[in-house]
Amino acid sequence: MLDFHNHILPGIDDGSPDFETSLRLLRGLKDLGFDSVKASPHTIADTHPNTPDTIKASFDSLNQYLTSQAYPHVSGFASEYMLDDIFLANLKAKKPLLCVHDKFVLVELSYAQKPEHVEGYSFQLQLDGYIPILAHPERYGYYHKNAESNYDYLKDLGFDFQLNLLSLTPYYGKDVQKVANDLLEKGYYDYACTDLHHDRHLEALNQFFTADSLRDLMKKYRLQNDKLAG
Ligand SMILES: [Fe+2]
Repeated sequence: MLDFHNHILPGIDDGSPDFETSLRLLRGLKDLGFDSVKASPHTIADTHPNTPDTIKASFDSLNQYLTSQAYPHVSGFASEYMLDDIFLANLKAKKPLLCVHDKFVLVELSYAQKPEHVEGYSFQLQLDGYIPILAHPERYGYYHKNAESNYDYLKDLGFDFQLNLLSLTPYYGKDVQKVANDLLEKGYYDYACTDLHHDRHLEALNQFFTADSLRDLMKKYRLQNDKLAG
């Protein structure tokens, strides 16, 4: 079972601050049944201005540390790209994106305000052959009113949907929980990941899930994480 949305690479975003934390989080993922992990640190121009080079450097140094601890390597790295003006400018300038697998790229939206032209991002991404995976669509509160038509619209634009597992619980609040469970029952999600940043996330995941329950969830709702392995 692959987890491809998490912040376990050390020192480059708001996730793990150091090697020891990264190893602890990786052990936690393994206990939850994620025997394969691809890391997806933020790329946000304002706050986490990562590049393929900064992400690869963190990935390489973590794997070196894991070797020293005789622990299996993180199998790959991508990024969680914030869809903003700078992202679009880079895309139009043909700067390559780090993909989860093949041309599948993980993207997120601002929590604070609804994007004015979400169509522009999906259009440009698909023009360049990318398949956008929208991270945690259930967490964008501005889509909760008229949820059905909003999420239909995003699907029609060509976004795959990635559920945050903790959204199924009260962790992010009751509204998020309701929307996540509705979308899950409707079969709108393509993937489910942890979005693991820190120990508190891990504790909450352990409170609500086990490796067995996660495997059952993936199967029941036909979640395709493992399509993006390798
Ligand atoms: Fe994330």
